[in-house]
Amino acid sequence: MTHADVLTDRFGRFHDYLRVSITDRCNFRCVYCMPEEGVAWQPREEILSFEEIERLARFFVERGVRKIRLTGGEPTLRNGYIGLVESLAAIPGLNQLAMTTNGTHLAQDAVALKSAGLASVNVSVDTLRQDRFFEITRRNELPRVLQGIETAHAAGLETKINVVVLPGVNEDEIIHFGDFACEHNLTVRFIEFMPFLDNGWNAGRVVSSAEIRARLSERFEIRPLGSGASDVAREYAIDGSEGRVAFVSSVTESFCSGCNRLRLTADGQLKSCLFLPPSVSLRDLIRGGAPDSELETAVRECLDGKWSAHPPMRNWAQRDNLTMVQIGG
Ligand code: GTP
Ligand code: 5AD
Ligand code: SF4
Repeated sequence: MTHADVLTDRFGRFHDYLRVSITDRCNFRCVYCMPEEGVAWQPREEILSFEEIERLARFFVERGVRKIRLTGGEPTLRNGYIGLVESLAAIPGLNQLAMTTNGTHLAQDAVALKSAGLASVNVSVDTLRQDRFFEITRRNELPRVLQGIETAHAAGLETKINVVVLPGVNEDEIIHFGDFACEHNLTVRFIEFMPFLDNGWNAGRVVSSAEIRARLSERFEIRPLGSGASDVAREYAIDGSEGRVAFVSSVTESFCSGCNRLRLTADGQLKSCLFLPPSVSLRDLIRGGAPDSELETAVRECLDGKWSAHPPMRNWAQRDNLTMVQIGG
């Protein structure tokens, strides 16, 4: 088995993008992400240490991973995470280190993150209205998040906004988000609501990308830009502006055929797909002293279990999975 073989699945998809959750904790309680009764945080010793994350990151980069995205929970809650960013960014062969965050720590940390080698941040903001922000997240943090977005952008981090569109919750803000993209010269990505364990999903709660595009077209001239085979989001330029809009259409237009993503949970389990349960604990292997060859076998087995695509999501109750806050997206 050559190094590159390790990360190629049965359908010929090469996995060069690793999403690493660095904590299962979050300071928000978003209604669509966390079950109503909450999630029990994992004890500290269950979570990968920074040394373990680095060991695994190097292992994957040596075998062809070129992009790593840090996720959570909320990654900025992990003490010392900027130091982790610095050491991961320095791994030879890694082209891009990114992070998905709720933005609460960016006003404080963005400049240090940029210096540490972070390239980009995707910031989740589902509403631009303060009252609604509280209803969705149970926290009054919108001003701090908006400040964080500005600071990140000004610091030179590529900054994109993630908006999960929900009917009767924020769908009336689609145009407002288009204006936000234009005013701030950044990309706003509209995301179709996906089913996870206990997150209140049903097919009637999906606002399709086609519908969102139609609404935007009433106000803006938007033009599709080419996107790569493995891109999750389809990007559009807005005429007369540097801002962009994009669509993540997991429910209505599956993009699995170009999938290049692997996921590591905060406690070190490997997931071959967002919608498949974790199949192996790499943490247990490395804590048991496993050499890289054993990790290779485990990763191969995990990828051998990857499907060509998830089943159609409409009428699909997703049971056999973790919650979104545990996966990190
Ligand atoms: P970029 O690297 O900027 O393209 O970001 P990304 O889209 O890879 O990551 P982000 O964390 O911003 O995720 C945006 C949305 O895409 C979230 O709703 C994720 O759950 C979803 N997403 C990410 N990867 C996948 C995937 O492999 N399959 C599906 N169905 N959705 C995904
Ligand atoms: N469907 C789609 N996107 C989701 N996210 C969280 N839960 C869901 C869901 N059920 C988004 C977050 C964050 C990204 C990691 O995933 O808003 O931007
Ligand atoms: Fe890849 Fe699974 Fe996402 Fe499809 S749903 S793109 S196979 S991770």
